[in-house]
Amino acid sequence: RKKVTIQALHALRQSKTPITMLTAYDYPSALGCSSSPLIDITLVGDSLAQVCLGYASTTQLTLSEMIHHTRAVARGTTHPFLVADMPFGSYHTSVSDAVTNAIRLVQEGRVEGVKLEGGREIVDVVRRLTEIGIPVMAHVGLMPQRYTSMSGYKVQGRSVSGAKKVVMDALALQEAGAFAVLVEAVPLELGKYVTDRLMIPTIGIGAGPHTSGQVLVYDDVMGTWSGHKAKFVRRFANMKDVRDNGVQRYCEAVKDGSFPNPETESYTMDKIEWAKFM
Ligand code: KIV
Ligand code: NA
Repeated sequence: RKKVTIQALHALRQSKTPITMLTAYDYPSALGCSSSPLIDITLVGDSLAQVCLGYASTTQLTLSEMIHHTRAVARGTTHPFLVADMPFGSYHTSVSDAVTNAIRLVQEGRVEGVKLEGGREIVDVVRRLTEIGIPVMAHVGLMPQRYTSMSGYKVQGRSVSGAKKVVMDALALQEAGAFAVLVEAVPLELGKYVTDRLMIPTIGIGAGPHTSGQVLVYDDVMGTWSGHKAKFVRRFANMKDVRDNGVQRYCEAVKDGSFPNPETESYTMDKIEWAKFM
């Protein structure tokens, strides 16, 4: 499949073909994402913090760590459009800092677009990045980088004022130039409403079936992540059992002496050389 472009993503929305997005954090998971011609977008999510690096929150992830992983993902990415999260703190201090850091993600991290959490308060940053040619995916609804100030991971937009905020934010971000909006953890009615109101694609996670596309965390899909399973997660594989079984059987084979097999899994010396050596 040829490289997915923003134009191609807009065409998918137009034809009501659901857009597929999946996260990746390193070279192997990037190859996993690229293995299906049906994947449209690979996201180096800042869930990297918890899923891959063992941090308690995405707010602990630095820009350098994100760039390091993004470079590996880029090396394993073929056709999917490649987007990375701008880490917490890397786009909050000023528009100019945000530009500098987004440029680092493009030049060093080799991404094609960046994702930013926030509403109307980040439109200046979104507008500037768009103006200089860095495509922005906005992220509204539940914003994990605001876990502490939101008092936990909670469904957003359930009240009239909450729903209005999500819609107003999404419209402002579209107006500022965002090429797509990710909507996280909102009622399915709101997921549909925002999607109908916008002219750009919406990518949902826990936002119901009516958004222009869906995204999930790689390890949730693979069933390797043993942390909390959100209501919106579906496990499409059970890699954890496969993995743990592989480790266990390897250890057993070494312990009982059945690995390595001398005939098929070992090298042998030439008989004459061996006689001379002895
Ligand atoms: O970091 C992440 O994994 C995300 C999700 C919404 C997919 O942003
Ligand atoms: Na994220």
